[in-house]
Amino acid sequence: MPIAALVTGASRGLGLELIRQLGRGERPPRYLFAACREPEGTGATELKNFAKCFSNVKIVKMDVDDLNSIQETAEQIQKVLKDNGLNLLINNAGINFGGDLNGITPEIMMKTYTTNVIAPVMVTKALLPSLMQAAQLSGEHGFSSEKAAVINMSSIMASMEMFNIQNGKAYSYSQQGQCPSLHAHRAALNMVTKCLASELKPHGILCASVHPGWVKTDMGGEKASLFKEESVEGILKVLARLSEQDNGLFLDWRGQRLPW
Ligand SMILES: NC(=O)c1ccc[n+]([C@@H]2O[C@H](COP(=O)([O-])OP(=O)(O)OC[C@H]3O[C@@H](n4cnc5c(N)ncnc54)[C@H](OP(=O)(O)O)[C@@H]3O)[C@@H](O)[C@H]2O)c1
Repeated sequence: MPIAALVTGASRGLGLELIRQLGRGERPPRYLFAACREPEGTGATELKNFAKCFSNVKIVKMDVDDLNSIQETAEQIQKVLKDNGLNLLINNAGINFGGDLNGITPEIMMKTYTTNVIAPVMVTKALLPSLMQAAQLSGEHGFSSEKAAVINMSSIMASMEMFNIQNGKAYSYSQQGQCPSLHAHRAALNMVTKCLASELKPHGILCASVHPGWVKTDMGGEKASLFKEESVEGILKVLARLSEQDNGLFLDWRGQRLPW
């Protein structure tokens, strides 16, 4: 496990479950930052209760749509870490506005892009000094999530190759219809992953997109096929196995490579 990890959008859903499983794992990170936008609100109660029992879990306030918030939190994290770097950043915070052409508006598309595409870039940028520090300190050759990695939570809905034009359904999603915003922003995020993988490679930092499966969360809904516990268990196994050959790839929670 990495020495220091940060998960965005940790108040509920997959983000909270990532914190839970990382926090109580056999070799938990010494510093596990759980970022959420309203730590003082009732929406973060479960996270706060969990953090009370695990002294390595530090809740930090971060609204990923707000550059000042990102920067302030990055500085706060750097202060806590001192000479240690940040080994693992999971850009998990995300939103989901469904709807076809009838329902879509420029405002919806812009908002979705801000949170799901621009924010992961800006969070990575703000934490880059810490990620680089972790890569340098590790002394490890090659690439791994213990050394330094950025994981972008994507979706199979981004896959143009798997999208079924006949019925507008992305593979394995029985309920999703055509949704220009939903599919397009994830495809854009995947391109971000590719660009980061290339740009960060010389610094020894790995970057990959991960599809968590269709998961029963507020976003995934009750009809989803996976419980968040099994999705996150799978994701953490995949992260533990990442190596140089996975840099810039699009993987699912079982470690299977997905087509772009
Ligand atoms: N569930 C699925 O089936 C599925 C499938 C494919 C991909 N994904 C991706 O997996 C990630 C997690 O999804 P989920 O199912 O856990 O979603 P979720 O239950 O809706 O939780 C979303 C999380 O993101 C946070 N968030 C949203 N906007 C934010 C912002 N501006 N700043 C900070 N945090 C923000 C939310 O915080 P608040 O509590 O403050 O709102 C919440 O913690 C997302 O990126 C999603 O697109 C999920």
